[in-house]
Amino acid sequence: MKIIAGNWKMNGSFQNLQQMIKDLSDIDTQNTVILAVPYTMLCTDSGKISLSAQDISAHTHGAYTGEVSASMVASTGAKYTIIGHSECRQYHGDTNASVCTKAELAISNGLIPIICIGETMEEKQAGKTLEIIESGLRESVPANVTSGIIIAYEPRWAIGAGITPTTDEIAHAHELIANVLSDMGLDGTPILYGASVKGSNAEQIMSIPHVDGVLVGGASLKSDDFIPIITSVK
Ligand code: PGA
Repeated sequence: MKIIAGNWKMNGSFQNLQQMIKDLSDIDTQNTVILAVPYTMLCTDSGKISLSAQDISAHTHGAYTGEVSASMVASTGAKYTIIGHSECRQYHGDTNASVCTKAELAISNGLIPIICIGETMEEKQAGKTLEIIESGLRESVPANVTSGIIIAYEPRWAIGAGITPTTDEIAHAHELIANVLSDMGLDGTPILYGASVKGSNAEQIMSIPHVDGVLVGGASLKSDDFIPIITSVK
């Protein structure tokens, strides 16, 4: 059983979500299917699939215009929130430290954080991939956590680019993540791979050791693209 999480980013509409929920309602799968949608779409009956926010505020409440807190997301019935997505790190200034604060708030409000880590092209070219992954994990995951989180490895240079790392690169990164998680007392934490996942590569990617599922951007927007990913593995 794998975890297949879609991330709609700032795309789609409430009507699109209703259609997706309908399209996914009768597929035959044991996999956990999650859809991370914009906040405005969270308050909805999503049937068999679980909804996720794409980010939460690093604050509990107050004068933070435009922000949405973990407790607000939890009150919609959503079960998850992505935290530290590369676009939030790039455009909204998220750092490992703010990701850690947000993860704590998510957990204390009953949400499962999907904590994203991964290297930029610059970091990859500087040979820093493994260092960035390890520091990302150690600094983004709250110290007292023993379960109830998901990690997503997203090589930032491959997101939305239509290119994927080699099987060896994914295997190497996921093995390191599993080892570091084990060292942190977090054995068994699911590790998702994200960046340019599509129907044609999903099964192969999910056959790599320590890949417990995928985080899918572009190919999660249409059911014709998303369903083949969900049904590519048992
Ligand atoms: P992509 O995005 O599948 O479009 O590359 C992945 C992500 O940002 O989660």
